[in-house]
Amino acid sequence: MAVAVYPGSFDPVTLGHYDIIERSAKIMDRVIIGVLNNNSKTPLFSAEERVNMLKSVTAGLPNVEIQSFEGLLVDFVKKNHADVIIRGLRAITDFEYELQMSQTNRVIAPGVDTLFLTTNLKYSYLSSSIVKEIAMYQGDISMFLHPEIARKVEEKMAARKKSGE
Ligand code: COA
Repeated sequence: MAVAVYPGSFDPVTLGHYDIIERSAKIMDRVIIGVLNNNSKTPLFSAEERVNMLKSVTAGLPNVEIQSFEGLLVDFVKKNHADVIIRGLRAITDFEYELQMSQTNRVIAPGVDTLFLTTNLKYSYLSSSIVKEIAMYQGDISMFLHPEIARKVEEKMAARKKSGE
């Protein structure tokens, strides 16, 4: 049984992430989405909220499960007895960072390999931060996110504005 971990911050999950998840689920027997909980980035959504949003958008993919993790990715991979890490490559600019990460992961955990999928061209420019920035200025984010995720981002932004954050 081929088991993969697809890690990230997913703050929030975008259609670009979903494209990678859906395609990974076709290739692998089981895909575990690892939601990073000790990020240096200050997230808009808590880890629990991000896990729940991912559960909601992947409800139709029976071989996909969601977990949050802290610490090293390779430890999370080993704990779950996964075979590979899945990463999406959006553009050439991702390559250097991804190469460094995959090489480092293999050095600190020999045997843990990374499988790269090229992101759908439609979403090759997309990032969670860009979506949040558009939402902050009340721009239309509906083409980047599942409808329920777009609603949650808009609600969160409105609540932040109200509380003066
Ligand atoms: N579609 C749309 N957006 C995408 C995307 C895709 N297919 N793939 C990546 N992105 C976006 C992400 O949303 C993210 O946006 P943001 O920076 O605005 O939040 C950005 O591209 C970068 O994504 P990524 O490189 O996946 O960063 P991340 O923070 O989501 O995840 C980890 C990074 C979790 C994989 C990495 O930090 C990690 O492994 N941490 C654990 C600690 C560890 O083991 N460190 C040693 C590593 S060698």
